[in-house]
Amino acid sequence: MGVLTVSLLLSMLFISTGRAKYEPNWLSIDSRPLPEWYDQAKFGIFIHWGVFSVPSFGSEWFWWYWQKEKRELYVDFMQRNYPPNFQYQDFASQFTAEFFNAKEWTDIFVSSGAKYIVLTTKHHEGFTLWGSKNSWNWNAVDIGPKRDLVDEVASALRANSDLRLGLYHSLFEWFNPLFELDAANVFTTQYFPNSKTLPELYELIVKYKPEVLWSDGDGDAPDKYWNSTGFLAWLYNDSPVRDTVVTNDRWGSGSICTHGGYYTCADRYQPGHLLKHKWENCMTIDTKSWGYRRNAPLKDYLTIEQLVSTLVETVSCGGNLLMNIGPTHDGRIAPIFEERLRQVGQWLTINGESIYNTTAWRAQNDTVTPNVWYTFRPQEKSIFAILLEWPNNGSVILNEPVATQGKTQVVLLGHGAVQWEPVKPGGLRVLLPQLSFSQMPCQWAWTLRLAGAT
Ligand SMILES: *[C@@H]1O[C@H](CO)[C@@H](O)[C@H](O)[C@H]1NC(C)=O
Ligand SMILES: *[C@@H]1O[C@H](CO)[C@@H](O)[C@H](O)[C@H]1NC(C)=O
Ligand SMILES: *[C@@H]1O[C@H](CO)[C@@H](O)[C@H](O)[C@H]1NC(C)=O
Ligand SMILES: *[C@@H]1O[C@H](CO)[C@@H](O)[C@H](O)[C@H]1NC(C)=O
Repeated sequence: MGVLTVSLLLSMLFISTGRAKYEPNWLSIDSRPLPEWYDQAKFGIFIHWGVFSVPSFGSEWFWWYWQKEKRELYVDFMQRNYPPNFQYQDFASQFTAEFFNAKEWTDIFVSSGAKYIVLTTKHHEGFTLWGSKNSWNWNAVDIGPKRDLVDEVASALRANSDLRLGLYHSLFEWFNPLFELDAANVFTTQYFPNSKTLPELYELIVKYKPEVLWSDGDGDAPDKYWNSTGFLAWLYNDSPVRDTVVTNDRWGSGSICTHGGYYTCADRYQPGHLLKHKWENCMTIDTKSWGYRRNAPLKDYLTIEQLVSTLVETVSCGGNLLMNIGPTHDGRIAPIFEERLRQVGQWLTINGESIYNTTAWRAQNDTVTPNVWYTFRPQEKSIFAILLEWPNNGSVILNEPVATQGKTQVVLLGHGAVQWEPVKPGGLRVLLPQLSFSQMPCQWAWTLRLAGAT
C-alpha cells in the first residue's frame, strides 16, 4: 500500500471518528505524529531504582553478571560478603526505602529544569515497584518497602510540579521461567507476554497514566511475540493517555531506531549531526552504571561541564536528553546526583531560552570555531550560539550566521547586549565583555542570542 493511500485512509477514518485510528502494524503506528510537548521539553531525568539498588555494586545487571555470566568480580563480592545460600531474591527484603520521600525527589527534579522523568517500574530482574498482581511476592508492596513506589512518585510529581510522568518497563525478565519456556519454543508460544508483560503494560497505563512509556529489553524476541503493534494501537487509540503519550523504539528485536515513537538507537546515543527523526540521548551521570553503586569513585561521575556540553550538543542535533541517576536502596538521591541536577538547573535558569521550545538550526555547530553549537527559536527567529568555552582573547567568530549591520543584535544571556563586527568572507566577530568570574552570568557554557540574523 502506498503512503498516499494510507494517509488518505487515515484521514477518512479521522473524519468519520474525529480522531485518527491506528492499526496494529508498523506503517500505521509509525505514522502517528509525536505529541508536541516532548520535543519542546528537551530534558528529562531517568531514574534506575530496584532490587539491584540493594547490592548497589557493579551494575543494575548485577543478577545476570553474578548468576548467568558468573563474572569474577560479582562472584567474589558475594562470596566475601554474603552467606553461601544467599540468593538474589533475598536482597528484596533489604530494599527498605526508609528515607524515600517523593516530595523531596520532586523538588530536586524541579530544580534541575527537567520537564519529565522516567522511572524504572520494572527492570530485567522483574521486580515491580508497584503492587502488580502478575508479580506476586516480587513487587515493592509485598516485600521490601511495602509501598507502591510508582504511585508515590506519580502523585508527588503531579501535586508539586508540572513535570510529566514517564515510566520505564522491561518487556522481558532474565530468569522468568515462562519467558524461558517461550524462548525454548523459539517464541512460537506467548505464555510470558500474555500473562505478564501485556497485563502489566495495560495496568501501568490505566493506573498511572504516564505520558512517556519507555520500553526496553526485548530479550531478542520479535515484536510479533510481544504483540507490540497491538498494544501500541490500543495505547494510541483507546488508552487514557492517547493524546499526549510518547513512546520510544524498543518494541522487539529489530525495532530500535526503526519503529515506534522517538528513536533511542543505543544507550548514550550521540549522533553528532541532525537526524530526520526525533531522538533521545539516554545517558547516565555515573558513567559505569545506571543503578546506584556504593563504591563509585568521583572520577566515574560526569562533571557539570560535561553534562552541559552533552545537553547542548544533543539539543543542537534535534535530540532530547534523558539524564540518569540511581537512588539508593533506602530511598535517597545521593548528594553528587542532587548537586549535578541542581547545577544543570542553574545553567538552564539563565540559558533555558536556547534549549526549551527550540528547533535545530540549519547548522548544528560552527564549521570553523570549535565548541560552538547552534539552536533556533522559530517563534522569535532567534539564533542561539552556545559557547562551551569562554574565548580567551575576548572575542569569538561565528562563521555560520549571516549578520547585517544596523539590524543584527547580539545579547549574551544573563548579561545584556554585546558588540559585534562583520568578518570576511562571512559571519561575525562577537566582542565579549570583560567579566570577572563572579560577574559571569553562568560558569559552564555561555549563550549568545542573535536577533535580525539569518
Ligand atoms: C494483541 O493485539 C491484538 C491486536 O493486534 C489485540 O486484539 C489483542 O487483544 C492483543 N493481545 C493482548 C494479550 O494484548
Ligand atoms: C513552550 O511552548 C509551549 C506551547 O506553546 C508552552 O506552553 C510552554 O510554556 C513553552 N515553554 C517554555 C519553557 O518556553
Ligand atoms: C562541527 O562541524 C564541523 C564541520 O561541519 C565538523 O567537522 C565537526 O566535527 C563538528 N563537531 C564539533 C564537535 O566541532
Ligand atoms: C581569538 O581566538 C580565536 C580562536 O580561539 C581566533 O579564531 C580569533 O581569530 C582570535 N581573535 C583575535 C582578535 O586574535
